[in-house]
Amino acid sequence: MGVLDGKIALITGASRGIGRAIAETLAREGADLALCDLQIDWLADTAAAVRALGRRAECFAVNVSQAADVEAGVNAAVQALGRIDILVNNAGITKDGFLARMSEADWDAVIDVNLKGTFLFSKAVGKIMMRQRGGAIVNIASIIGLIGNAGQCNYAASKAGVIALTKSVAKELAGRGVRANAVAPGFIETRMTEVLSAEVRQKMLDAIPMGRFGTPQDVADVVLFLASDASSYVTGHVVTVSGGMVM
Ligand SMILES: NC(=O)c1ccc[n+]([C@@H]2O[C@H](COP(=O)([O-])OP(=O)(O)OC[C@H]3O[C@@H](n4cnc5c(N)ncnc54)[C@H](O)[C@@H]3O)[C@@H](O)[C@H]2O)c1
Repeated sequence: MGVLDGKIALITGASRGIGRAIAETLAREGADLALCDLQIDWLADTAAAVRALGRRAECFAVNVSQAADVEAGVNAAVQALGRIDILVNNAGITKDGFLARMSEADWDAVIDVNLKGTFLFSKAVGKIMMRQRGGAIVNIASIIGLIGNAGQCNYAASKAGVIALTKSVAKELAGRGVRANAVAPGFIETRMTEVLSAEVRQKMLDAIPMGRFGTPQDVADVVLFLASDASSYVTGHVVTVSGGMVM
């Protein structure tokens, strides 16, 4: 018996890193999954891990920043799995640079994937959840959306936007039984952070009271709580998962 038995969850950016850990964690608790990423073949390993747990995994190629892709992906997921009870907006990118040198293209790309992608999926799946009179949306934000960061004004703005979007969606959909919450991870060991220099990593580590970087599983465990009925009276909330770096 899992806490998500009988539930259907759609996860974006599920091919690796935090998205993959979320997929395996929700599947372990009984959910069947719709997995979305830019290319279907990238999702093969995640889908195999989910199926090895005895759950269904359907894969969809979706660029989260393209409205037509999102609409088609969500329709196909509902056709395949029947409903959507949980939406995890996890797909995200960085294109770091200092303000004075940041190109308009790098600004647009990060806002389009991180913020617009979360809007497009929330809109498409939110409609389905409203009709179902129930659902849980979990958006992956970042502590950078709360505190800002030199060299990441595009990323910080996108994640602050995700937090404001989450709270607005929570207020709009609460009456229809749909909850929306955000998780704000700190420094998590994934491909997104492995590109950082040893110097930056050490500076980060020095700022983490718990003295270690986070793992994708640390984030997935909090997503599980917010996706499950264990948090049935929690909406519009932002949970930081940062080892105390932001509190
Ligand atoms: N790693 C960290 O320290 C950290 C910290 C805070 C927040 N986050 C957030 O967590 C989420 C996952 O990050 P991660 O560290 O696992 O990164 P990652 O780069 O390992 O994974 C990101 C996933 O999103 C997918 N993706 C990217 N653009 C997409 C698009 N346009 N359409 C569909 N899928 C797309 C990628 O293919 C990949 O599977 C992101 O939203 C990120 O901003 C990460």
